Parts: sequence; C-alpha cells; structure tokens
Amino acid sequence: MRSLVRHARTVSGPASPRRRRSATAAPSLALLATLALGACGSRPSSTLDPRSPSAREIAELWWVMLGFGGAVWLLVTLLLVWPAVRGRRRDIDTGADTDTAERFGRRWMAWGGIVLPVVVVFPLSLWSVSVIDRQEGRATRDALVVEVVGHRFWWEVRYPELGAVTANEVHVPVGTDVRFELTTDDVIHSFWAPNLGGKVDMIPGEVTELGISVDEPGTYRGFCAEFCGVQHAKMRLLVVAQEPEEFEEWAASMAADATPADAEVAAAGEDVFSEVGCAGCHTVRGTGAEGDVGPDLTHVGSRRTLGAGIVENDRGHLGGWISNSQSIKPGNLMPPMVLEPDELRTLIDYMEALE
Ligand code: CUA
Repeated sequence: MRSLVRHARTVSGPASPRRRRSATAAPSLALLATLALGACGSRPSSTLDPRSPSAREIAELWWVMLGFGGAVWLLVTLLLVWPAVRGRRRDIDTGADTDTAERFGRRWMAWGGIVLPVVVVFPLSLWSVSVIDRQEGRATRDALVVEVVGHRFWWEVRYPELGAVTANEVHVPVGTDVRFELTTDDVIHSFWAPNLGGKVDMIPGEVTELGISVDEPGTYRGFCAEFCGVQHAKMRLLVVAQEPEEFEEWAASMAADATPADAEVAAAGEDVFSEVGCAGCHTVRGTGAEGDVGPDLTHVGSRRTLGAGIVENDRGHLGGWISNSQSIKPGNLMPPMVLEPDELRTLIDYMEALE
C-alpha cells in the first residue's frame, strides 16, 4: 500500500496539500473496503443478536448473569462508599463497645460471605447446567448431519446423507434441526458462528457435536475460535441459511460432478489444472483431479469467498490467489505458482465455470 501511495505521488507531480491528504486517505479507504468485503453481505456477528434457539438461550443467560453481576457490583460499591459518607461509628472506632462491634462484623460475614453468594451463585449455576443440558440434547437429536473438518486454515464441509461437498461455506435449511459433526485434520480448531450458537472445539481423533436450528434465512459469519497457527484470524466461514426448497436445490448441485457449461473452457481448464500441478492437491469431481490436500473445487465458482472468507470470489482475487496466495494469506499451504499469462487466464476461466 505504501508503494502504491508513493507511486500516486510520483505520477501526479509534487504533492499539493489536498493531494497529500487524498494520498494518505488511500490506506484507510482500502482498509474499509477490505472490512466491507470481509462481511460479504452477511449479518454483523454478535452473540447478543441470536438467530437460533440455542444462541437465544445463551444470550438470555448472559443478560441475566450481567444483571446479577451488576447488582452485586452495585451493592459492594455502596457498602464501600457508605461508611465514608456516613462517618465512622464512634463505639466501634473507640472500642467502647467490643461486643457490638463483633456482632456487627459477624452479621456482615454471614450475609456477605454466605447468604449473598448462595443466593446469587446457586440459581445461576442451576440455570447454566440446564442450558448446557439442553444444548447437548439438541446435538444428539435426529437431524440433518453436516460434517465439518478443520484444516489449517480452512473448513471442509460434507453432507453425508446428501452426497454434497464444499468448503468454507455451510448451507443449512431454516427451521430444521442440523447436527454439526466436528473434527480436525491437524491441530485443534473451534467452530463458532456467534449468532447461531456454539462454540465447539474440533479435536484431533474425536468427533464433537453441535445442534443448531436457524430461525430465519440469511448469511451468518463464522470463525475459528481456537488459536491454530499463523492464519488463525483468517480462518472464517459463512453459514448460509436458506428456505428448505432452496437448500435442497443447492445440496443437489453440490453433490453433482463438475458441469462447466462451455466444453472448450472445461477441456482447456482440465489440461492446465493437471499440467501445472493443481490436481495434486485439489479434487474436481468428474475429472481426473483427486487431490485431497486443499479444498474440493468441483463447484468453487459458486462460492462467495476465497481463502476461507478472506476475499470475495471474483476474477481479480482468483487470479491473485492462484498466482500467489501467500501474498493474501501468508502461511497457508498453497505454494506460489509460476504460470504463463495464458495458463492463468485459462485457470481463472475454468474456476469461474465450475459452478
Ligand atoms: Cu483454526 Cu484457529
């Protein structure tokens, strides 16, 4: 960015004050654009804007805990301030009436040390346990199963009953019980879509479960919530909640083999895809590409983002990602590719056609 700004100054001659201002504004505008792109039309993520019964339960518990905690804080603050305002009691201060002082102290110890904690902590603990119990109940009931496998730094998504496979974008039908079966291919990750509930750790060699039923259609943001390496912060996903018919259509298309409309684009793309080595890491179902290191690309053209929710899936970002994804997401497993311009164009055409 700095080099872009410098370039803008050189081509426009000596910077006038106004020019200088617009040049320095460029980085902040770019940052805003990136933030807006990151959202990709999705709802701002917040645990306090719950869109599923399980998230609502957690939010309610949070508000009540905040209320109780606030009341206790207020009480303790008043007790601290009160003696200062009222002045010290002479009989305690002078030791004139030691019995009264002791009784006074004991009473406070009983109320402040036993009664108050029991009244506050006991009901809240009971409530927390019942919420946890209901959350676990949701995870085991009969539901549509979505398997999500964490990788550094992306999400593999499979629907075993429907045969659909995708990555970094989970679609679910609204008003339907969905059970996420979560695991990982490498280190511990954690699946978290704040508006929908969670978060649940993805642990090597284990399958953890999360039951969710989304209230209304929309696109919700998800995050990896367990530090998993250098690109942990850029391991994001989208949860797209759709009407059941729309979801079924989507799942059927994700289950199908690759079907680029243009046979020429498909043939040329498949050739380059295997020649330059993409097929060693990626699968495109219905072709010879069966790599299993990176995301399944059979329908990559229909996804909204690239790089696990980092940039929008358009021609420019596709080209940038294919040639050097390390400049967008340093530390991901895809190496930079040295390609002829023709090869890059062919690959971009092919990826866009894989809808
Ligand atoms: Cu995956 Cu943090």
